[in-house]
Amino acid sequence: SLFQRHAVVVRDLETVVAPGQARAAAYKVAVLGAAGGIGQPLSLLIKMSPLVSDLNLYDIANVKGVVADLSHCNTPAKVCTFTGADELAAALKGVDVVVIPAGVPRKPGMTRDDLFNINAGIVRSLVEAVADNCPNAMITIISNPVNSTVPIAAEVLKAKGVYDPSKLFGVTTLDVVRANTFVAEKKNLRLIDVDVPVIGGHAGITILPLLSKTRPTVEFTPEEVEELTVRIQNAGTEVVEAKAGAGSATLSMAYAAARFAESCMRALDGDPDVYECAYVQSEVTELPFFATRVKLGKKGLEAVVSGDLAGLTEYEQKALEALKPELKASIEKGISFANKQP
Ligand code: NAI
Repeated sequence: SLFQRHAVVVRDLETVVAPGQARAAAYKVAVLGAAGGIGQPLSLLIKMSPLVSDLNLYDIANVKGVVADLSHCNTPAKVCTFTGADELAAALKGVDVVVIPAGVPRKPGMTRDDLFNINAGIVRSLVEAVADNCPNAMITIISNPVNSTVPIAAEVLKAKGVYDPSKLFGVTTLDVVRANTFVAEKKNLRLIDVDVPVIGGHAGITILPLLSKTRPTVEFTPEEVEELTVRIQNAGTEVVEAKAGAGSATLSMAYAAARFAESCMRALDGDPDVYECAYVQSEVTELPFFATRVKLGKKGLEAVVSGDLAGLTEYEQKALEALKPELKASIEKGISFANKQP
């Protein structure tokens, strides 16, 4: 079923190691920001995927060593190194899936929006290069604030005349991964079985786990709903504080982004049953961008699972209304940044 799919994807990620597997490696992936805290473990996980033929790793520094290191793993993907703006175009030529974790992470006391000034410009310039070199690629954006960087990317692609809304994704998979983990722990369920849709955006109260739609069906007390919702919304901050200045989530993020990239490739490969939550251009609410579950296919986003917004509990409905002004402001901030002269 649709809900077991996640489990299958996760299981696949756990087992995709052996070289010489039946499946032909076919897809070309670029990671932009590959030498960073997320970029390195993410590149390792992508290197383990049997669906990848070429893995282009790009960063402004320190990527050569990462590539030398990864290239010794005997999995099919061929890893290539690209350093600095002069090599960006070559890193993107012919690429099917672009993953963007470039940018600065949070430190204790910072919100994701505090990263805007630096990361907005980084995402703008990287997406310009994507538009010029692989306009048909699926573009998956990790760099925060995702609520704003995805609208920025959309504006850049529009200005270049190559915007395809079904190919642009803000990666919110980590919110789903966290929700699944926390619910399974709380309710003593097998981790692999649990699936919680998370909608809205990717910051604070804009992250809205729909606990009432958890599969398998689970009953929560109002106190549990409040506790779990708040924990899922603040889980990133939990990691930022534990790392005490050394950055934000990198390993769990790498895991989540690798799952999302793998889902993109499975969809491109013709798997008819690939579902993930993602922050995309959307009509399910009055906001132009919104995260919901989406069905992925050969052409990218094939359908939004809008049914998740029907039959919300009163708690979820209130939380949905409460998140809209913040999400709207973040979207508008991104759009206006993108349309200012650099
Ligand atoms: P990091 O600082 O460890 O790594 C960032 C990398 O980006 C560095 O290697 C840096 O050289 C590179 N970089 C900077 N400017 C670049 C440019 N113009 N082109 C290419 N590469 C460039 O940071 P970390 O921990 O890897 O986080 C990266 C981003 O991911 C942050 O914005 C963080 O907020 C975000 N993030 C998103 C999450 C999500 O759920 N979507 C979860 C966790 C982090």
